[in-house]
Amino acid sequence: MIRKQLEILERIAREHGTPVFIIDHEKIRENYREFREKLPDVQAYFAVKANSNLEIIKTMYDLGASFDVASFPEFMLVHDNIKHFPQKERQDFIWDKIIYANTIKPAEVLAKLNEYKILVTFDNIEELRKIKKHAPDVGLVLRIRVPNTGSMVELSSKFGAHPGEAVDLIAEAVKLGLGVEGISFHVGSQCNNFDNYSQALNFASSIFKEAELRNYQIGFIDREGKKRKILDIGGGFPVKYTPDVKSFTALSEKLNSEIKRLFPDKDIQVIAEPGRFMVATACTLITKIVGKAVRDGKTCYYLNDGVYHTFSGQVFDHQPYPLHSFKDGEKKVCATFGPTCDAFDTISLADELPEDLQIDDLLYAENIGAYSIASSTYFNGFPPTKVVHLNKL
Ligand SMILES: Cc1ncc(COP(=O)(O)O)c(C=O)c1O
Repeated sequence: MIRKQLEILERIAREHGTPVFIIDHEKIRENYREFREKLPDVQAYFAVKANSNLEIIKTMYDLGASFDVASFPEFMLVHDNIKHFPQKERQDFIWDKIIYANTIKPAEVLAKLNEYKILVTFDNIEELRKIKKHAPDVGLVLRIRVPNTGSMVELSSKFGAHPGEAVDLIAEAVKLGLGVEGISFHVGSQCNNFDNYSQALNFASSIFKEAELRNYQIGFIDREGKKRKILDIGGGFPVKYTPDVKSFTALSEKLNSEIKRLFPDKDIQVIAEPGRFMVATACTLITKIVGKAVRDGKTCYYLNDGVYHTFSGQVFDHQPYPLHSFKDGEKKVCATFGPTCDAFDTISLADELPEDLQIDDLLYAENIGAYSIASSTYFNGFPPTKVVHLNKL
């Protein structure tokens, strides 16, 4: 990070105290624009689970994004608030704006969702029966199980119908009088193996074809009265946390050409559910050294943020967030711990920081916008970090 940026961070820490989580909305806008420029035919449904901060939702909405929600509270967070946002483009239909992309929904949630006639995903027969009973008016998207090989977060053991049973599930939905509007998949989060996307697109294309051959109607009628099918390519778009992560440009080129090849008909509406890609690089955390000890010859720094809080992504997301000092100096291996009484609250046993940092010195972690404050707890009475916004319009 350049000196000028460090000075801004230090000023924010002085003004607001620590820990402090800084969200740069200009960077979010940049990420969104890159996504749309490189995948111009794909509507982005921002996966709110990655970071549900309301100001991020507002920024995404202003940019023209739609939303992927995972629970009823997330649905309400978007739904109740987008009504009050200034609308940059006209969005008449709630189902253009929100997909409920959790294949398992409690009956009482389905009953509430039915009122909104929202789009929801499903991947099994029990869920279909529940939907028939409690939410017969929602639109359905069948989530299929696809390879997650080489992705940082694996999702296929928990979600997705086997491609071999997909058309039978569509048949069941038709039999129950429910409307299947499309197919979705998720290649696993932080996917660095782009073959996952190719294989998933091939599965989806074959399923659409087989359903057509068997005369099962998939799709919906759009505002212009045209029949359209949804192809939801999920999330997984990788963030360059480290130089070995492949470029989004390469992925977008592959996706564009594969989609064109496999779905030549103009009746396909492609959507995606990017989470990490939009927010990871837009956020920085500043934390403070609040204690120091030497154990077994190694310096241990105790910080006022840790793995029960903003560093929770290390556990749930398998993503390390290396700490940096504002001070220069020769680096030495040290341990960094969070503030709680649990030894599990270990950020790293092998961080590299300048020698001899002092209590009250500040540290920062970059690219920490996704799956971080979203899963922060109040463990031991320590609240989640405060949040500061930069470059909000
Ligand atoms: C259904 C679904 N959609 C989208 C996402 C967002 O994925 P990513 O952050 O990799 O873009 C996830 C992440 O777990 C998910 O489960």
